[in-house]
Amino acid sequence: MSSDKNNSPASEQKVQRLFLALWPDDELRKHIKRSSKSLLRHGGGRPVALENIHITLVFLGNVDEHQQACIEQVANGAQCPIFSLKLDKAGHWPRPRVLWLGCKETPEPLKQLVSDLYRGINHCGIQLDSRPYQAHLTLMRKVNKPPADLTIEPIDWSLDRFVLVKSTTHPEGVKYSVIKEWPLLENQD
Ligand code: 2AM
Repeated sequence: MSSDKNNSPASEQKVQRLFLALWPDDELRKHIKRSSKSLLRHGGGRPVALENIHITLVFLGNVDEHQQACIEQVANGAQCPIFSLKLDKAGHWPRPRVLWLGCKETPEPLKQLVSDLYRGINHCGIQLDSRPYQAHLTLMRKVNKPPADLTIEPIDWSLDRFVLVKSTTHPEGVKYSVIKEWPLLENQD
């Protein structure tokens, strides 16, 4: 059998659990934590570790090396300008039992970026989530009942890149590592 890894059968290839995301810097993470203090005080849930907070663009699941190369090629071709978003809404989804932050208005560049990534990655042999995209940042899991007051202090976030993240499970919990990043395009004017 050939030793060329590009010709290896899928069973011999390294498979990683991946997703594309918007990744806050450390300062923004602290700001999010401060601004969500009253929401996080709400009992009965498990706060997401500060270093894990993010907005998923595309959840990819278990991906082999060929699929990863295909995804990276799609991301290389993404033409998204720098943009900003406002986290000005909190909500609770009862089925996944998550408490999240999101935007009253999803910025157009973000919608376009996600739609371009989905369209490209659809050709990489990956089963993508078919539900409509809802940009959100999960703050807390295992929340059965939302806090009575979901008011939040709006948080501005300026985006200049998106990232590919590897998810690994450990006895102490899930760990996310950024393995690649792509800059957004500077405004030309
Ligand atoms: P969530 O925060 O709403 O759970 C890594 O797991 C990231 O991918 C999380 O932000 C998670 O969203 C998102 N994701 C989307 N679909 C997923 C799925 N089917 N399984 C696990 N995570 C998923």
